[in-house]
Amino acid sequence: MDIQHNFQLQTYNSFRTKATAKLFAKPRTIDEIIELLKQYPNEKKLILGNGCNLFFTKPFDGLVIKPIISGISVIDDNAENVTIEVGAAQDWDELVEYCVNRGWSGIENLSLIPGAVGAAPIQNIGAYGTEVKDVIVKVKTIEMATQAIKEFNNAECEFEYRNSIFKQTRNYIITSVIFQLSKSFSYREKYIDLKKELAHTPSPTLKQVREAIISIRKRKLPNHLEIPNAGSFFKNPIITTAEKDSLLEALPSAPIYNIDTNSFKTSAAYLIEQAGYKGKRKGNVGTYENHALIIVNYGSDDGNDIADFMHEIQKVVKTKYNIELEPEVWVF
Ligand code: EPU
Repeated sequence: MDIQHNFQLQTYNSFRTKATAKLFAKPRTIDEIIELLKQYPNEKKLILGNGCNLFFTKPFDGLVIKPIISGISVIDDNAENVTIEVGAAQDWDELVEYCVNRGWSGIENLSLIPGAVGAAPIQNIGAYGTEVKDVIVKVKTIEMATQAIKEFNNAECEFEYRNSIFKQTRNYIITSVIFQLSKSFSYREKYIDLKKELAHTPSPTLKQVREAIISIRKRKLPNHLEIPNAGSFFKNPIITTAEKDSLLEALPSAPIYNIDTNSFKTSAAYLIEQAGYKGKRKGNVGTYENHALIIVNYGSDDGNDIADFMHEIQKVVKTKYNIELEPEVWVF
């Protein structure tokens, strides 16, 4: 396997900023991953999918591993469901398209999310009322410290909103994901934007739902191949009753969604917009004009410009609304 030294990661992160990795490798098989881990037991490690949810503020002083295991195989098929195993490096939206074309439902609401399949469970990707945890049966991994193969069933993944055991521990290299999809489809409107988009389509087909999601996303979210970005930059904050009450005092119009008795979610995009930061540009970075939650890079080579702008937004939202915005994107 080819190991590269001082490897430039600019084309390996969707913000397109510059940073080198001390060591870089693209293993093609599970055996090659294990060999690599044995060869470099003491190096700090970073596993890269499509690089759509991270950025670098300094050179990475360790080993960057980009597994390139892809492919979709059916492992069980009955009248109601199909179970598939998908390699971690498979492009996420290609998988969604593949499933929708075959009439398999469950991930259509997650159309056009950038990234690799192996990254989907890490932050439990979600959109339009669906989270990937709803269809994951198992995640196959290699534990970095022991090089042991470990499989996690759905409960063992400890999925939460944009969170999982894989994100918490960062100990595992995901090699494949097993999904169970349904062979029947009944549209259940779960999200206001989707409802509006399909207002004139009384019983939308699976393909029509995918097309509607693609239209909404193209309208609201920038394509990282045209304007470098990493999707939603911050998580929607989960707040307590006291925090909710103080937020509503400062901003009576803030959207509040109930989670449970002492836990509420509000909209990070709304807070950023109200703070005057929608479509705001600072040098070569800014928030997207059509969606305040997306930080876009207009041409900076330096991840520190993104980090500085992130801190500015966090500070202004904290000062105005006493809410801590936590990045959804990983900062290295
Ligand atoms: N809003 C604003 N200003 C804006 C944009 C939105 O005030 O510029 C407010 C509106 O009130 C809107 C609400 O925010 O109703 C929610 O906006 P949106 O439906 O776009 O969703 P979001 O909460 O901002 C989340 C996910 C997205 C996902 C959408 C759609 C997170 C961090 N983000 O965004 O996921 O596509 O829902 O379901 O949960 C991603 O994770 O990268 C991502 C794009």
